[in-house]
Amino acid sequence: MSKQSVFPRVTAPQIIRCKEEKRKVVGLTAYDAVFAALEEEAGVDFLLVGDSAGNVIAGHATTIPMTMDAMLFLTRCVSRGTSRVMVVADMPFGSFQVSTEEALHNAIRFLKEGGAQAVKLEGAGYLLPTIRRMVEAGIPVMGHLGLTPQMINVFGGYGVQATTAQEGEQLIQQARDLEEAGCFAIVLEKIPASLAERVTEVIKIPTIGIGSGAGCDGQILVNYDLLGVFDKFKPRFVRHYMNGAEQIRNAVSAWVSDVREGSFPGKSESYDAKPQRVEPKAAKRGRKAE
Ligand code: KIV
Repeated sequence: MSKQSVFPRVTAPQIIRCKEEKRKVVGLTAYDAVFAALEEEAGVDFLLVGDSAGNVIAGHATTIPMTMDAMLFLTRCVSRGTSRVMVVADMPFGSFQVSTEEALHNAIRFLKEGGAQAVKLEGAGYLLPTIRRMVEAGIPVMGHLGLTPQMINVFGGYGVQATTAQEGEQLIQQARDLEEAGCFAIVLEKIPASLAERVTEVIKIPTIGIGSGAGCDGQILVNYDLLGVFDKFKPRFVRHYMNGAEQIRNAVSAWVSDVREGSFPGKSESYDAKPQRVEPKAAKRGRKAE
C-alpha cells in the first residue's frame, strides 16, 4: 500500500489510490482467525468475509441461508486474526434489501460488533439510496455486479452475466451509479473480460475481478478455491496454488493409520509425571517411621 497512515489497517482511500498508482488490489476471502492471519502475512490488501461461507463453511447449496448472526461471528473471527488488512463484511441476503434503515443498522453492526472496516453488498438500482446513506454515515461500501449469487433464484444458475451488448451497457451504467453513490470499489463477478475492461476504463474506483479477466484493477478469489481445498468442481477462473484437498486427505489418513497401529502418540508426544518425593505414611501422621 502507498502512503503510511495513523490507522493501522488498509483504508478505503488507500484502495482507491491503488488505481491511480496502477498497483493491483488483491483480495481473498477468509472465514476464521487462523487462515485470516496467514493470508494477511502473505500480503493481501483486504479480506472479504464472504457469504460464500454459506457454501464452503456451512455446507449450503447457496448463499441465501446465511444470517446476520452467522456473518457477524465469522467477521469477528477474521478481525481478531488480523491487524493490517481491511476486513470487508459481506452483507447476507435479507440484511439490506428490506429498507435503508435496516440495511444501515446491519452495516453498523458489522463495523461495531464485527470489527470490519467496510461492507459489501450485491446489486445496484434500488440500493443506491441505501449505499449513499451508508457512506454518509461513515461506512465504506464495496459494490458487487455481474454474477451476484444472492440472485440465484432469479438468474436460475451461475452462468456468465451481461453477455449481450444491451446487458453490457446496463452493467456499465450500474457501475457508474455505484461510483456516484460513493462505493470505493466494485467486485465484477463472471462477466466477459472485454466488458470488465470497459467498466474499468470508465470508472475511477477500482474494479475487483473474479472470473472477469485480467483487465480489472484487482482480483479476488475464494480462499478454499485458491488453496484447492474445495475440489468438488473447479470453475475456469480458479487457479489452484496448492493441492489442499489431497494434502489434507493424505495427512489425516496417515494419522488415522498411525493411531490404529499404535505409533501415535510416541513418547515425545506424551507427558511424564513429575518425579515426586514420597513421604513415609507414618511421618505424615507425625509418628516416626518404623
Ligand atoms: O461471497 C464471496 O465470497 C464473494 C466473492 C466471490 C466476491 O462475494
